[in-house]
Amino acid sequence: MHLKRTHTCGQLRKGDAGEEVILNGWINSRRDHGGLIFVDLRDRYGKTQVVFDGEQTPEDFNTAKKLGMEDVIAVRGEVVLRPADSLNPAMPTGEIDVQCLELAVLNEAEPLPFLVTDRDSALEEQRLTYRYLELRTGELQDNLLTRSRIYQIVRGYFVEHDFVEVETPFLMKSTPEGARDYLVPSRLHHGRFYALPQSPQTYKQLLMIAGLDRYFQIVKCFRDEDLRADRQPEFTQIDVEMSFIDEQDVYTVVEGLIRRLYQELQDIKLPDPFPRLTYREAMERYGTDKPDLRYDLELQDFTSYVESSDFSTFKGVLKEGGIVRAVVAPGCAGYSRKDTDALTNLVTEYHQAKGLAWMKVGTNGLEGGVAKFFPGELQQQIVTGLAAKEGDLLLMIGDKEEVALPALGALREELARRENLIKEDEVRPVWIVGFPLVEFDEEAGRWLAVHHPFTAPHPDDESLLETDPGRIRSRGYDLVINGWEIAGGSIRNHDTGSQERVFKLLGISPEEAEEKFGFLLKALLYGAPPHGGIAFGFDRLVMVLVGATQIRDVIAFPKTTSALSLMDGAPAQVTDRQLKELGLSLRGKRKYE
Ligand code: AMO
Repeated sequence: MHLKRTHTCGQLRKGDAGEEVILNGWINSRRDHGGLIFVDLRDRYGKTQVVFDGEQTPEDFNTAKKLGMEDVIAVRGEVVLRPADSLNPAMPTGEIDVQCLELAVLNEAEPLPFLVTDRDSALEEQRLTYRYLELRTGELQDNLLTRSRIYQIVRGYFVEHDFVEVETPFLMKSTPEGARDYLVPSRLHHGRFYALPQSPQTYKQLLMIAGLDRYFQIVKCFRDEDLRADRQPEFTQIDVEMSFIDEQDVYTVVEGLIRRLYQELQDIKLPDPFPRLTYREAMERYGTDKPDLRYDLELQDFTSYVESSDFSTFKGVLKEGGIVRAVVAPGCAGYSRKDTDALTNLVTEYHQAKGLAWMKVGTNGLEGGVAKFFPGELQQQIVTGLAAKEGDLLLMIGDKEEVALPALGALREELARRENLIKEDEVRPVWIVGFPLVEFDEEAGRWLAVHHPFTAPHPDDESLLETDPGRIRSRGYDLVINGWEIAGGSIRNHDTGSQERVFKLLGISPEEAEEKFGFLLKALLYGAPPHGGIAFGFDRLVMVLVGATQIRDVIAFPKTTSALSLMDGAPAQVTDRQLKELGLSLRGKRKYE
C-alpha cells in the first residue's frame, strides 16, 4: 500500500514534533479557514488534526477541499507543535498537528445516511441497517473495546482457578428449558430437527460426569422469546460448572470474578462477601427478585392501619386473603392529578393492579386521596409507622400478593427514575437465594420449574415434594447488580432418583422424561459427582460495566426487538430447492410473495 501508516491517529504527542510520519484514517471533520484546511483524522485509537496549507502543497490542498466525511485517506506529514492559543486539552493529541506533505485518497465514501459523530442523528432502524457505520461512533467502539477486555479478564480468571474451557455443540437435541427453541431441519434425516442450545446446561452436567471437575465456556445461546431491553434472541453466556461443591463455592468463584472486573476496569472495590437476600425478602421489600439497591423506597406493610380504618375496599382485599403495602414517595406531595394518574396507569395497565390509592402528608396529618378513611389519630400512627415526613406522598396497593408486590416494585422503580433517586455511581451486587423450586402455571394447569428442571430442591424441603410443592425452596441462586439479573444457577440433582422425583412433580411422565432427557438420566447412573454451576449473561455484564441501558449497545450486530437483522435481512426466504433438500414444504402462501 502506498503511504502505509507509521503511527495511529491516537499516538502522536509533542515529543514527536519534527518527525515525519504517515497516518491513515477516516475524515471525522473538515474545517476550511481560507488558505488552511483542518481535518480531524480518525481511527480506532483516536484523532489527530491534519493541516493542509494552500501555499505549501497547493495540489493536496485542492484535493483536501473536496474531501467528504468518512473518506479514507493517507497523509504523509510533519509533526508540528500547535500555537499556544490552539492547544486542545480535550484531545490526547491536542498539542500537535500533522502538517501535510503528501495526501492520498484511499477510498471515497458515499454521502452518509447519518452522522457517525452523532448517534442521535438517526432513528434506530436506520442505524441498525448501517450498523457498520454506527459502530464507528465513539460510544460503540468504546463498548466493544471494553467487551473485548472483559473476555480476556474472564478467561484469565477461570484458567487461573483451574477451570477447563470446553466447547459444546450448537446442533443439539431439543430439550426445552423455558423459552422456545430455534430449530434446524436435518438434510440427511428428513423430519428430524436439531435445536440450537438455549444454554449448554445438559452438556456441562455431562462434563462433570465425565470428570472435568471445573468447566467454563464463553458461549452463544439461542432463545426464541419476546425481546426486551436486556434480551436478545442470540446472546452470550459465561457458562460455569463445578464438581464436589456447594453454594458457597459458586459464590466465592463468581464474586472473585466480579470483584476483579470492577477493580480492573473501574478501580472500584466491591464488598466481600456480596450481600444476600432471600427471594421472599426481596419480594417483600422491593417487589422484585432483581432489586436495584442503589435507592431505598422499600415497600412497607400497611395491613394494621387498614384494619382500624374505614377503608372498605382495602378491608375487602384483606378479607379475601390479599395484602396491602405502601411506598413512601419522598417530597412528592406536590404531585398533580396528572402525575398520580400516570402512576395509577402504570400499575393498572402494565401490572394488573386494580388501582393505586394515595394520600399526602400535610402539616396536620394526611390529606387528599383516601385520607378521609383514616381517622385523625390513625393518621399520626401511619406517618410515624412509615417514617414519612411532611411533603411526602403515600402510595398504597391492596391486592393479591402476586399482583400487589410486583406492581409496587414497578412503582418503586418509576419513582426512583422520576425523582432521580438512583445513585448512579454506586455498584450494588446482591445474591438472591431460596427461590421457590416450582410455581403453578394456571394456564397449563401444572407446576413449572422456576429455574430449570435440573435444579435440586433444598434438602430441608424435600418432604414437601408430594404434599406442598409451592413451598419447596430450590438450591438456585441469582446474582443481581443494580437491578439487572446478571447470572443464575443452581446445585443440581445429581442422582437419577432425585431427578426423576422433580420430573414427576413437573408432570413429566417417565416416558416423556426418557424421550427428552433419557441420555442425562442414564448418565446420572454412572457415577455422577455432586455438582452445580452458574451462567452469566455476558452481554448484560458488559452492559452494567459500561453503563449501557440497551443490550444492543454492547453487541456488534444485534437483532431488533422483533428479532430481525435489518442489515442483512435475516430471517430471509430460502429457495424451493433448499426446502426440498430438507424435506420441507411451506404451508399456505409465502407471506412475502
Ligand atoms: P438462565 O436462563 O438464568 O440460566 O440464564 C443465565 C443468564 O443469562 C442471561 N440471559 C440473557 N441475556 C440476554 N438475552 C437473553 N434472552 C437472555 N436470557 C438469559 C441472564 C441470565 O441470568 N443453564 C442455566 C444456568 C445454570 O443453571 O447454570 C441458564 O441458562 O443474565
